[in-house]
Amino acid sequence: MIDDLLKEAEEFTRSCYKELNKTEQELETRLNEINQQIVSEGFYEHTVVELEYGAKVAWRNSNRCIGRLFWDHLNVIDKRNLSTEEEIIDALFEHIESATNKGRIRPSKTIFLQKVPNKTVRIWNHQLVRYAGYKTEQGILGDPHSLSFTEICINLGWEPKFGKFDVLPIVIQMNEKHPKLVEIPEHLLLEVPIRHPHYKWFEDLSLKWYAVPIISDMILEIGGIRYTAAPFNGWYMGTEIGARNLADELRYNMLPQIGNLMELDIKSNLSLWKDRALLELNTAVLHSFKEDGVSIVDHHTAAQQFKKFEEKEMEMERSVTGDWTWLIPPLAPATTHIFHKPYKNKIKKPNYIYQPKPY
Ligand code: ARG
Repeated sequence: MIDDLLKEAEEFTRSCYKELNKTEQELETRLNEINQQIVSEGFYEHTVVELEYGAKVAWRNSNRCIGRLFWDHLNVIDKRNLSTEEEIIDALFEHIESATNKGRIRPSKTIFLQKVPNKTVRIWNHQLVRYAGYKTEQGILGDPHSLSFTEICINLGWEPKFGKFDVLPIVIQMNEKHPKLVEIPEHLLLEVPIRHPHYKWFEDLSLKWYAVPIISDMILEIGGIRYTAAPFNGWYMGTEIGARNLADELRYNMLPQIGNLMELDIKSNLSLWKDRALLELNTAVLHSFKEDGVSIVDHHTAAQQFKKFEEKEMEMERSVTGDWTWLIPPLAPATTHIFHKPYKNKIKKPNYIYQPKPY
């Protein structure tokens, strides 16, 4: 255990100090300090510089992310000093507000205490803002992805609203204590009603989506140290909403309704009604976000940006790893360069990793 940590810490610190052009002297001094801390306490603490660099590189190493060109512009917010649920909840609200930035979304990451023996913070939500899903006698209402978490919230005392787009409360747990549940204040939430540039009837579907995807259930791992609560966000790529969240049969499943309203022959596969409905739903998502001044990227631009990222990394003589199955967009994948080349799905560290659900 200690040996692994010593090794991981050294490996990270060397590459960090090298990329940041620190002197050999600075590196050696720091390595000694880290070693001493690990040997006497079983762990070590990152400096602010190491933390920020580690968080950025974790993004750079995220094989499933097409948006990595901007890895160096991550806004890292160090909240390792907070020790109560109340303080953490306030910091999460601050994250939502500053990342949303009235629509000009800032890629951000707030980092809470690292995992040490007998001390862990967990955010139970998958994303800080997410819609509830309910099992009812008439079928599923809301987002099926949130079924089990919604049930947990209700058991913890949350009042269900039985709407299609109810924002779930935030649930925080410290050190195996009973979790704390809190509603996100309305004024912090930015949502975009989905309408279509030509089809007037589209707004009658009453679809909307929240502005900022803030993943809150992954571990940030840097140099052998694990941050179990370290929520982060970018902005959306349109297809995440238009070709998955609102379209998947196991999510909001909107294609049949849209196909019908477009007067397509939804009985025939040959009519390509799903493809046509998908295209208009995605047009509507991009149009609505753009018109409301909320940052979003289309999949063609995102792929071009990813190409630029690959070129930049090559210049720096770093290899780009990737998970092809995630990198290709779900709409018109073969129109992007990504489709036509292989990527090595090798895991580099620092990185973001999954952790078992706490419930
Ligand atoms: N795909 C997830 C969603 O639709 C969000 C994942 C992160 N996406 C991003 N653009 N940073 O909610």
